[in-house]
Amino acid sequence: MYAEDLIKEAKQVLVSANENFGLRGYEEDDAWEMLDHANGEELNYGGEVRAEVRRRFERMVRRRATGEPLAYIVGWIDFRDFRLGIKPGMFVPRLTSEFLASQAIRRLHGRRSPVHVDLATGIGPIVISTARAVPHARVWGLDISAKALSQARANAAALDGGNATFLKSDLFSKLPRSLQGGVDVVTIHPPYVPRKVVANLPVEVKKFEPRHTLSDGSVDGLGLVRRVVDEGLKWLRPGGWLLIEITPDEFRNIRRLLSAAGYVGIRSTHGELRHTRVILARA
Ligand SMILES: C[S@@+](CC[C@H](N)C(=O)[O-])C[C@H]1O[C@@H](n2cnc3c(N)ncnc32)[C@H](O)[C@@H]1O
Repeated sequence: MYAEDLIKEAKQVLVSANENFGLRGYEEDDAWEMLDHANGEELNYGGEVRAEVRRRFERMVRRRATGEPLAYIVGWIDFRDFRLGIKPGMFVPRLTSEFLASQAIRRLHGRRSPVHVDLATGIGPIVISTARAVPHARVWGLDISAKALSQARANAAALDGGNATFLKSDLFSKLPRSLQGGVDVVTIHPPYVPRKVVANLPVEVKKFEPRHTLSDGSVDGLGLVRRVVDEGLKWLRPGGWLLIEITPDEFRNIRRLLSAAGYVGIRSTHGELRHTRVILARA
């Protein structure tokens, strides 16, 4: 069988499956990613596909047709200029977070001994970005999930992120006290979906990504953000930055929290992808 025929068949399967999921438009791209992965290298449009590759590919298509994220199936996700390993049970980094990473990098560059703390780091996209872009920085990635952290460590080791340290920690709790008052940038892409809204998320998200990566269980979804705003002031140096990636409609609520806690220069900004914002504030 030829690649083009397999892709056509897979596309049909995925398009009809996606009618249930409401996530359309990438079926053919997804099918090619899976076929290349099954084959172990890129195939040409008219290339012939071996029988065992076809079987592997068809198994992957069946998984994808259940709504399982492509990243879990192929085992990687591209972020900025690098590729992160990922397994089922871990949050899949979103492209919007590339903007959060670039906002952190520009605030670390040019400082003599910059320190970055990435809370809720997951498999490490933000912290590996800063570790690579600012090699003289000390960067910390903290998360409550041992599984995500073990993947983050492996990703950092494979990607020249030797200046990144990962800790299992409920927000700042396990960060060395010696860093108090000395952190230049704190970033967080928190689990911010309000408790009752999780049920309305697309199947690809709510059925596969662990709940604690999507929601902190609070009614308004801002439970962790409140804690970060409160605790952040103890860790940031005077003038240091807190950067929060969140949905645009939360800006007013979070501005109120930041302002009440004493942060200054509070504003909301975004990159090319506008469905999330990065809220910036200075200690
Ligand atoms: C939306 S994901 C973001 C992950 C990563 N920053 C990214 O963008 O790919 C939220 C992460 O928060 C972590 N998390 C949830 N509660 C936490 C807590 N109390 N302290 C630290 N991390 C937490 C989850 O394990 C998950 O990895």
